[in-house]
Amino acid sequence: MPDVKVKNLRKEYGKKVVVDNLCFTAENGKLTTLLGPSGSGKSTAIRMISGLETPSGGDIWLGGREVFKEDVGELVPSEKRNIGMVFQSYALWPHKSVADNIGFPLRVRKTNKVDMLQKVKKCLDLVNLSGYENRLPGQLSGGEQQRVALARALVYEPEILLLDEPLANLDALIREQVRFELLEIQRRTGITMIYVTHDQSEAMVISDLVIILNEGKIMQEGPPHEVFDWPKSMFVANFLGVNNIIPAVYQSQNSATINDGRLITWDYQKYTSDRFSKGDPVYLSIRPNQIMFSGDERGNGSNVLKGKVMKEAYVGTMTEYWIESGCLNVRVQWHRGGGPGVGEDVDIIFDPTYVRLLPREE
Ligand SMILES: Nc1ncnc2c1ncn2[C@@H]1O[C@H](COP(=O)(O)OP(=O)(O)OP(=O)(O)O)[C@@H](O)[C@H]1O
Ligand SMILES: [Mg+2]
Repeated sequence: MPDVKVKNLRKEYGKKVVVDNLCFTAENGKLTTLLGPSGSGKSTAIRMISGLETPSGGDIWLGGREVFKEDVGELVPSEKRNIGMVFQSYALWPHKSVADNIGFPLRVRKTNKVDMLQKVKKCLDLVNLSGYENRLPGQLSGGEQQRVALARALVYEPEILLLDEPLANLDALIREQVRFELLEIQRRTGITMIYVTHDQSEAMVISDLVIILNEGKIMQEGPPHEVFDWPKSMFVANFLGVNNIIPAVYQSQNSATINDGRLITWDYQKYTSDRFSKGDPVYLSIRPNQIMFSGDERGNGSNVLKGKVMKEAYVGTMTEYWIESGCLNVRVQWHRGGGPGVGEDVDIIFDPTYVRLLPREE
């Protein structure tokens, strides 16, 4: 199976640049996710890879084969790129049976009937829908229809599969189930997949590599746990669900002060520790589930802030707290029982293991 490689891939609509010099490699046999907010250029990027959209510039390779070249244009048309594509709307033909829907790409390719039946059967097995050959799409659940769309994209054995928010129409439970089935199919077939989503938890679960896009540019890329644990910018931290992003002033490799001079320390930074000088404005970020309430015994240590509980909300698996500390507002998620109540004075601890240092983008 081939790598997908893009270099300086660009798309402009009029004066608006929607994909801005993208460079990345989706490795052979791996699942690479393009993750980003609505309008960040994800669909445009994969449509250019598939050949459905013409780039304004850049190069695209599928394996060793260049299919689009800067200054030359298209070298290989869409139908010769051997790419399968699954869209958010399944686009099944309502009056064709499941088998006819799946077999359609083979009929277009003039595959003989015996081969066609065999391949359709194999794909139905792959997506766990054996025995559904004669049903119509209207007789299937959303999740089953999505699996038919997936089988149709896989039936002619493409080397690359591009999926554009394929689970967005499914409800949470089915989405989780189909997500794991998809991953299983990827592992079994070894197909190179590029997956598009704006759902960070989906990206974290299924990806080998996550590429985070904003306004057509790559903000960060890496394995899921790495981008989740070590965001390099406020955008990525925010997008991956960090609620506490606190302005601070850099003091040393291990410390910064926040508004009223209180010192916050950290153990280690993966990317940013030596990028700053004393006095530089920075942000500190910490996830709400990584903040502790302290007992009196630690009341005056570093990383302990005094505050007051302004609001609390019990959300089933945890309690969300909004704490006011000086002019800071801090979110805390408390997963154990026995937390404080509204109006109570509390000490909150920023564990130095989880404090992240980010550049202030001003
Ligand atoms: N044919 C077009 N003409 C003009 N602008 C377009 C066209 N297609 C897309 N755009 C613009 O390009 C930008 C990127 O669109 P794209 O569909 O790639 O975003 P996306 O990341 O897939 O978003 P979503 O998560 O909402 O699907 C958007 O601002 C969109 O309005
Ligand atoms: Mg899109």
